[in-house]
Amino acid sequence: MKGIVFTEFLEMVEKKFGIETVDTIITESNLESDGAYTSVGTYAFKELQSLVVNLSKYTNVDAQDLIHLYGIYFFDTLTKNYISLFDHYKNAFQLISGIEEHIHVQVRKMYPDAELPYFETHESSDSKLVIEYHSERALYSFALGLIERTLEHYNEKATVTKKLLNDSGTKVLFTIVKNG
Ligand code: HEM
Repeated sequence: MKGIVFTEFLEMVEKKFGIETVDTIITESNLESDGAYTSVGTYAFKELQSLVVNLSKYTNVDAQDLIHLYGIYFFDTLTKNYISLFDHYKNAFQLISGIEEHIHVQVRKMYPDAELPYFETHESSDSKLVIEYHSERALYSFALGLIERTLEHYNEKATVTKKLLNDSGTKVLFTIVKNG
């Protein structure tokens, strides 16, 4: 996983829960990196998992809720760092439909070792978009936060529902229906 995912995660934890919480979860997580991340480095995904598990224990907030919060937070990181990719899209459905074929393709060019999910579009119209998320990292709550924040970014109102297609959450169906 790219370092930016770790540095921004710890920044969110600091803003929402304080610097002591950052120190505590780093200590509790027994990290190979010792929690010293740089945005251009690459680190094991299991370090993020440990940090989330320990944050959940320490704050009593459900782990999926924390990952969801992080998806919402990470969207702003993306708009700050990769605005040229966003300029390409006029609305949320266009952007979300473009993740697989364009956005993450560009990401892979910049970072050949990026660990990215795979999205498959099942249905696409002006009012409804159905996509399937595939990733062995099962970061579907992160995806949900990003989708919701994308809609907000374009001032669009929609209902997003997710359906886990297996117990581990490595395959998840998202249905996005425009309101009104
Ligand atoms: C311009 C917009 C975007 C950029 C530049 C971008 C870039 C990235 C980057 C750098 C990572 C981390 C890769 C790694 O750690 O190795 C990532 C992961 C991810 N991205 Fe995107 N992304 C964008 C939009 C989106 C959107 C709108 C979604 C909504 C579903 C999305 C879903 C994900 C997910 C779920 C992951 C986590 C990896 C996984 O699940 O396996 N991305 N993306």
